[in-house]
Amino acid sequence: MTDSADTEYRVVADDVHKAFGELDVLRGVSFTVPRGTATAIIGPSGSGKTTLLRALAGLDVPDAGVIRVGEVEVDFTQPVAKDVLRRYRAQSGFVFQSHNLFPHKTVLENVTEGPLIAQKRPAEEVRAEAVELLGQVGLADKRDQYPYQLSGGQQQRVGIARALALKPRVVLFDEPTSALDPELVGEVLGVIRDLAVEGWTLVIVTHEIQFARQVSDQVLFTDQGVILEQGPPAKVLGNPREARTRQFLDRILNPL
Ligand SMILES: Nc1ncnc2c1ncn2[C@@H]1O[C@H](COP(=O)(O)OP(=O)(O)OP(=O)(O)O)[C@@H](O)[C@H]1O
Ligand SMILES: [Mg+2]
Repeated sequence: MTDSADTEYRVVADDVHKAFGELDVLRGVSFTVPRGTATAIIGPSGSGKTTLLRALAGLDVPDAGVIRVGEVEVDFTQPVAKDVLRRYRAQSGFVFQSHNLFPHKTVLENVTEGPLIAQKRPAEEVRAEAVELLGQVGLADKRDQYPYQLSGGQQQRVGIARALALKPRVVLFDEPTSALDPELVGEVLGVIRDLAVEGWTLVIVTHEIQFARQVSDQVLFTDQGVILEQGPPAKVLGNPREARTRQFLDRILNPL
C-alpha cells in the first residue's frame, strides 16, 4: 500500500462477491471512489446496495474480491485476520437508514462515545470536536437533549455527526432520508451536500434522484448484484445507456 494510492482513491473494489445461502447477492462488483468525491448508488430493491455498503464498512464479510478502503486493503478470498478487519472497519463511518442512537445518552454523548471508547482519545479534545461537529450539522443548541426529544431529521443529523467524529476516510450512507417525513428530508440532504462541498469522500445509497444529480460526482446503478451502469450523474441519470436504468428512473420519477 502506497500513500499515493490513498491520495487518489479512497475506495477500490475489485470483483466483490457475496452470497446468502443460495442467493448470489453481489456477483462481481468493481468500482473506485476518488478521494474527495461523492458516489451515489441507486438501483431496485434487492439489487444488493445495502450488502455492498456493508461490505465496504466491514459489517458483512464478502466471499471473494479485494477491497481497499482508505489505507487498508483486504483480500476477502483469504481468511481475514481479526485485527486487519478491525483496521479495515475503522476506515469508514456508517450512517444508517434509521439513526441507531443510544437512547439513554445525550446528543453530545452519542457523538463522543466512539472517539472516547473505541479510539480512546483524550476527553477534552473529543468533546471540543463533537461540539464543533454538532454546530456543523446545525445542532449546537441540542447537545444536552436526548434522542427522543429530537425530530427524525435532527436525530439523523446527530447520526451523521457521530459518524464524522471517528474521522473516517469515507462516509457511507444507506438511504439516510428514507425513514423521514418528507418535510425533514431537505435538512439532512443539505448536511450531506455540505460534506461533499467540504471535500469528504462519500458513498450514498439513495432514491433521491435530484439530490444524486446535484451532489454526486458519479452514479452507480446496481441491478441483480452487478453494477449495470456507472458514470457521471448527467449521463447515468440524464441519459442512461441501459434500458433497465431507464425503467428504474422512470418508475421513481413517475410513480403513478
Ligand atoms: N443477512 C441476510 N441473509 C439473507 N439474505 C439477505 C441478507 N441480507 C440481504 N439479503 C438478501 O440479499 C438481497 C439484497 O439485499 P440488499 O439489502 O443488499 O438489497 P438493497 O438493494 O439494499 O434493497 P433495498 O432497496 O430494499 O434496501 C435481498 O434479496 C435480500 O433479501
Ligand atoms: Mg438497502
